[in-house]
Amino acid sequence: MKEQFISDDFKFPVTLAITGASGTVYGLRVLQFLLENNYRVEFVISESASKVALDEIGLILSLSPAILKEQVLSYLESKGKKNINKNLLNVWEFNDISASISSGSYRTSGMMIIPASMGTIGAIASGTSDNLITRAADVCLKERRKLVVVPREMPLNTIHLENLLKLSKIGTIIAPACPGFYHRPENLDEVIDFVAGKILDLFGFDHNLFKRWKVDSNLLAVN
Ligand SMILES: Cc1cc2nc3c(=O)[nH]c(=O)nc-3n(C[C@H](O)[C@H](O)[C@H](O)COP(=O)(O)O)c2cc1C
Repeated sequence: MKEQFISDDFKFPVTLAITGASGTVYGLRVLQFLLENNYRVEFVISESASKVALDEIGLILSLSPAILKEQVLSYLESKGKKNINKNLLNVWEFNDISASISSGSYRTSGMMIIPASMGTIGAIASGTSDNLITRAADVCLKERRKLVVVPREMPLNTIHLENLLKLSKIGTIIAPACPGFYHRPENLDEVIDFVAGKILDLFGFDHNLFKRWKVDSNLLAVN
């Protein structure tokens, strides 16, 4: 397998979690990009994410890692155009707090939570570490690794805002699932790709999921 690490930062896997906020497709699109481009991924979904995935895109996602892995790979293969090396995907069970990513001694290149529910954001902000997602995020924070959360809620109450501010103050990158339209998307896939691409930018992954302002096209709108 040809490795395509773009810097030393990516010699370790990236942790990707999907929680029960709306927008399962964003997390799956980022996962597709990472696997298609030969990056290793530690993957975990919450119980609520499984429910939302079924509601939103009719995708059945088991909480059993072995089954979940097959379901996710099958979905990605139906969407993608490139082959995926299955060995790059490590799937964990939501409550498996003995998973490798539960420990700071297991090195990762950071973690992205896409989408991040307000429940999970509140739990991370209060440090409960009561499931693998909140624990792995807590590990990133204590080890000073990159943590990107992609909230999706509207409108926001004061508790949401306070939790987001608290996380931002300790270095978490808050990247709301807010698609721009200045790249003139022509379909839903292009809207999804915009959000996925912005998240990938935050980690420094090289991609062409969207046209860049005043670089790739004669875009007329202002952002
Ligand atoms: C269809 C559906 C859509 C939801 N959308 C959101 C959302 O956009 N943002 C959010 O914070 N919670 C949303 N929720 C509620 C969360 O799933 C719920 O708070 C859950 O407890 C979060 O658990 P988790 O953080 O462990 O995934 C949604 C629930 C359902 C069933």
